[in-house]
Amino acid sequence: MNLIDKIYRLKKERNATILAHNYQIGEVQDIADFTGDSLELARKATDIDAEVIVFCGVHFMAETAAILNPNKTVLLPDRDAGCPMADMISGDQLRELKAKHPDAKVLCYVNSTADVKAESDCCVTSSTAVQIARSFPKDQPIIFVPDRHLGAYTAEQLNREFILWPGFCPTHQYLTAQQIFAARKAHPEAEVLVHPESPKPVRDAADQVLSTGGMCRYALESACECFIIGTEIGLLHRLQQESPQKTFIPLNERAICPNMKKIDLEKILWSLTDMETKITVPTAIADKARKSIEMMLALG
Ligand code: 13P
Ligand code: SF4
Repeated sequence: MNLIDKIYRLKKERNATILAHNYQIGEVQDIADFTGDSLELARKATDIDAEVIVFCGVHFMAETAAILNPNKTVLLPDRDAGCPMADMISGDQLRELKAKHPDAKVLCYVNSTADVKAESDCCVTSSTAVQIARSFPKDQPIIFVPDRHLGAYTAEQLNREFILWPGFCPTHQYLTAQQIFAARKAHPEAEVLVHPESPKPVRDAADQVLSTGGMCRYALESACECFIIGTEIGLLHRLQQESPQKTFIPLNERAICPNMKKIDLEKILWSLTDMETKITVPTAIADKARKSIEMMLALG
């Protein structure tokens, strides 16, 4: 029996479902029951019949699924698949920041630990940050953690100032406006889509600033046939599958998130065989963090 058949057989035996983020390697996306961006995956996690969720993504995503499903088993096939941005602020650091700005509401990017979510008023994703932030009164100070770029982008869209935490995504940090100018020269017919985790000069030089799911929808609906994609290159797999007649060119071929690439088919099989690595969140933290996540799902 080949690896994929073994996974399917064990998935059935364990009553498991496989969720994968858009940055996972192609083979993992192909065997997943559902592939999506952070918001789509969080929504999907509220609507799962299976007893076991195998989460092919990074730690905070599996943690979010565990918080939303306290009675299910959530497995992360590589326990070291973390998100460096999420680890750039701790619960203690956020508590200190809140003490300095007692009137502020806290918006936290879903790329954060459960402890940080528990200390926040509402979570946001890259596709919902603007819409959710808009629902907070204009005179209300807003602390935005941990991504300074998504925070700055959201504040810019609303023409207001946020108290930003200096976190960033190491993968998007190295996209540059010069790469966009060069790509436009080589492909003048292309539209440039970038992720809001990108630095401001990159966002300013792009045609559209979108979440990974937003890029997929945009590419499907746009009359344009060629796109320069400014995000982690794993997304090109889904883009190409959904729009096979269109051309997708990575803005930077080296925009690879090493953590998103830690999971492969062998590790998924191991995960289902040994029922490892189980992701759990202490109840007191999970109960508080769930409120911030549920508010995000209601507002976004
Ligand atoms: P989205 O897929 O929600 O746009 O998030 C991108 C990302 O960096 C996830 O870690
Ligand atoms: Fe974290 Fe960036 Fe990797 Fe997303 S792409 S998991 S934000 S390091």
